[in-house]
Amino acid sequence: MEQDRDRDRDQRNQRNQRNQRNQRNQRKSVLCVGLVCLDIINVVDQFPLEDSDTRCVSQRWQRGGNASNSCSVLSLLGTKTSFMGSISPGPVSDFIVGDLARLAVGSELVWVEGSTPVACCIVCPPNGSRTVVLHDTNLPDVSLEDFSKVDLRRFHWIHFEGRNALEQARIIQQVALWNRSVPEDEHITVSVEIEKIREELYVLFNMADVVFVSKDVAQSLGFESATAAVRGLYPRVRPGSALICAWAELGADANQDGVLFHSAAFPPEKLVDTLGAGDTFNAAVIHTLSTGAGLQEALSFGCRVAGEKCGFHGYDEIAQKFRGKPVQN
Ligand code: ADP
Ligand code: FRU
Repeated sequence: MEQDRDRDRDQRNQRNQRNQRNQRNQRKSVLCVGLVCLDIINVVDQFPLEDSDTRCVSQRWQRGGNASNSCSVLSLLGTKTSFMGSISPGPVSDFIVGDLARLAVGSELVWVEGSTPVACCIVCPPNGSRTVVLHDTNLPDVSLEDFSKVDLRRFHWIHFEGRNALEQARIIQQVALWNRSVPEDEHITVSVEIEKIREELYVLFNMADVVFVSKDVAQSLGFESATAAVRGLYPRVRPGSALICAWAELGADANQDGVLFHSAAFPPEKLVDTLGAGDTFNAAVIHTLSTGAGLQEALSFGCRVAGEKCGFHGYDEIAQKFRGKPVQN
């Protein structure tokens, strides 16, 4: 009897805490820091031969960059979000700024001289492939000084796409200091994405509450599956953190203090556009975890949204499919 009462009370407390967190998170936003670029996307029905001259099926401009794509998906799923990254004035940034506004993504843009990065992308639906050639113009990435101007009270989660890792580590230390100065229920959760095979990014493994490591990085470090990666790389993260690894059509795995989670992929009826599947997955996981849900639910939802996204071009249809609301263009 008494045990039943205790259990009911614990469940009620957990529900209350989750409701309070949700209310707070609805007021505050998720900030994603990283790259924004223009993607010029050529859709082809056959991958072109080198040195050939062919026609594509369609062509479009799309705002790109991992952190910027994740912002689009968060917003389409109904989570308030802002993007922070470097950009240069000109026609490309006019398009990008307009598109951030179109999807109600807030912006903390750092304006610098130079040219905004542009990627030429070939999306080939019959092969399910996306080939990206990015001219990363190496604009100075967000610095601690830029970040210091951000009002942290507006955010409950900050996600970093690993780029200028040493500076990002200093920024994350600033967030940790801020967390120490506020009550626990005002803490900011930090996530990082380690996607590129670059040794200098690996300092970020032990700097976040949630760490996304890519299949490419995992393979380059000798792991042949997502399960092997989240087991083998766990010593690199802080105890208690969640380490997550997505593995394309094999779904995704996670590890938290030795407890392992897995979700299978949700393949669409027909593969159409896999560009940004990983960014979509990350956003859907952050969206779910920030409601207080657990890792299993987050992995499954991440795979469901990313799988569905592979079945249509771009990201906009996420709003219709997952919220029953089309995007107003
Ligand atoms: P990216 O290469 O875009 O960084 P991944 O290929 O690791 O990302 O995929 C991220 C997630 O997207 C996977 O965990 C999976 O859920 C989904 N996904 C990617 N490719 C496919 C596919 N071909 N079929 C079904 N789901 C996919
Ligand atoms: C997709 C993406 C594209 C961009 C490229 C940069 O994940 O962010 O939008 O062109 O990767 O590496």
